[in-house]
Amino acid sequence: MSVRDLYDSMAQRYDAVVEATSYIGPDWLERNLPQVGSPSAVIDLGCANGSLGAVLRGRFPEACITGVDISERMIEEARIREVYDRLIVHDLNAPLVQIEDSSADLVVALGFCEFLSEPELLLGEISRTLAVGGVLLLSFQEYWPDRPAEAPRTTRSGSVLHKAYTSLEVSEMLKAQPYSVKKLVSETGYVSGSGFACPYVFVCAVRQSG
Ligand SMILES: C[S@@+](CC[C@H](N)C(=O)[O-])C[C@H]1O[C@@H](n2cnc3c(N)ncnc32)[C@H](O)[C@@H]1O
Repeated sequence: MSVRDLYDSMAQRYDAVVEATSYIGPDWLERNLPQVGSPSAVIDLGCANGSLGAVLRGRFPEACITGVDISERMIEEARIREVYDRLIVHDLNAPLVQIEDSSADLVVALGFCEFLSEPELLLGEISRTLAVGGVLLLSFQEYWPDRPAEAPRTTRSGSVLHKAYTSLEVSEMLKAQPYSVKKLVSETGYVSGSGFACPYVFVCAVRQSG
């Protein structure tokens, strides 16, 4: 099964999945938006059914908000929610050619980077699309090499692989790009049906010149 098939199959019950797993993405976003100012152009990557888009629209009623996701069914659900100005079906393993350089003030990339085969490519695309001074809110599933039973390098949803990263690896990926990291914290992202408390690295970074 591909990640697209996985999320297509979950699209109509995604809100229930968020609730059942106590996924903290929407809450973390809400808590960290005060650091963001008043963006006029926002991109929500891996937007799913618009659960984070609803938070963004509530906070920034006048902003132009774009949602991007690989799952067509998630995009259909997001369209019904009416919180985005623009929705794009796109695989974020490929360059985001639909979005112009320096056109966004805020990019949200929560809850999906563990599915990417080349997260560095996406980080480069985000720095291309963010204006200088723009903010990136990002998460990765976290790997703890000293306690791999609690936070393994890889996990699976069915046959779909999630690859986790150490907080140092996340810092190094960001250092290779023009970002200043304002915050990098570890929090439990969600708790799976089998009781796995999945740790996430959450980041707030600001696009620098250069
Ligand atoms: C766990 S949901 C997270 C949704 C939302 N960002 C949040 O944090 O609540 C992961 C979403 O990322 C999308 N996704 C996964 N891999 C992707 C890729 N390569 N390109 C675009 N979207 C992807 C999935 O389709 C799914 O809608």
